[in-house]
Amino acid sequence: MALIAPSILSANFAKLGQELADLTAAGADWIHIDVMDGQFVPNITLGPPVIKALRPHTALLFDVHLMIAAPERYIADFADAGADIITVQAEACTHLHRTLQMIRQAGLKPGVALNPATPLERIVYVLHEVEMVLIMTVNPGFGGQEFIRAMLPKIRRLRQFIDKEKLPVQIQVDGGVSEATVGQIAQAGCDIFVAGTAIFSQNDYAKAIANLRRLIDQAHKKKRKK
Ligand code: DX5
Ligand code: ZN
Repeated sequence: MALIAPSILSANFAKLGQELADLTAAGADWIHIDVMDGQFVPNITLGPPVIKALRPHTALLFDVHLMIAAPERYIADFADAGADIITVQAEACTHLHRTLQMIRQAGLKPGVALNPATPLERIVYVLHEVEMVLIMTVNPGFGGQEFIRAMLPKIRRLRQFIDKEKLPVQIQVDGGVSEATVGQIAQAGCDIFVAGTAIFSQNDYAKAIANLRRLIDQAHKKKRKK
């Protein structure tokens, strides 16, 4: 079952609580929260205090994407703030295996993200430590960027590997997911679709989410016919 995780990076930061309530009513599955530190990526967004303030505004899963240097320093803070999943960037972790274990020990679901230039081989020895692999299809830091089509074979290869090894790992895709790209991303094997601009650029969030779901279902049907 495909899940839609709106990225609130593109939401109205002046009324984030209301935005979460609206996304919940609009049928979002998860809330994707982009944390940026101005060091790992050239942008700064929000941290644990804001996540803590947002927690009561929805019961949806908080899918926290840490685009920060040395994320192991803040696992406990994000756990206390109400994160459900913590995804760290492989490139930001000196001891990635240990950091993923820390997330699990904090009672959260661990995820690992790969920047576009980072090969799948970077995470092959930690696939047993994660519940999700996030394939970045833009260079992290900003919403509204162009989908990097060269990532489609990377998603397909990861799908094949997970299925062959029968791993309980979901694939998340993040960056440039839109009505124009979501079908190919679905056919490549994505399970969880992060979308920022594609949703927040529309007045009607429910319609935007329903459109993405329709296109994903269409792509799955087409793939089954092949
Ligand atoms: C980028 C973030 C993404 C981004 C997606 O660094 O990780 O989650 O907000 O935004 P869109 O869907 O507009 O590309
Ligand atoms: Zn993200």
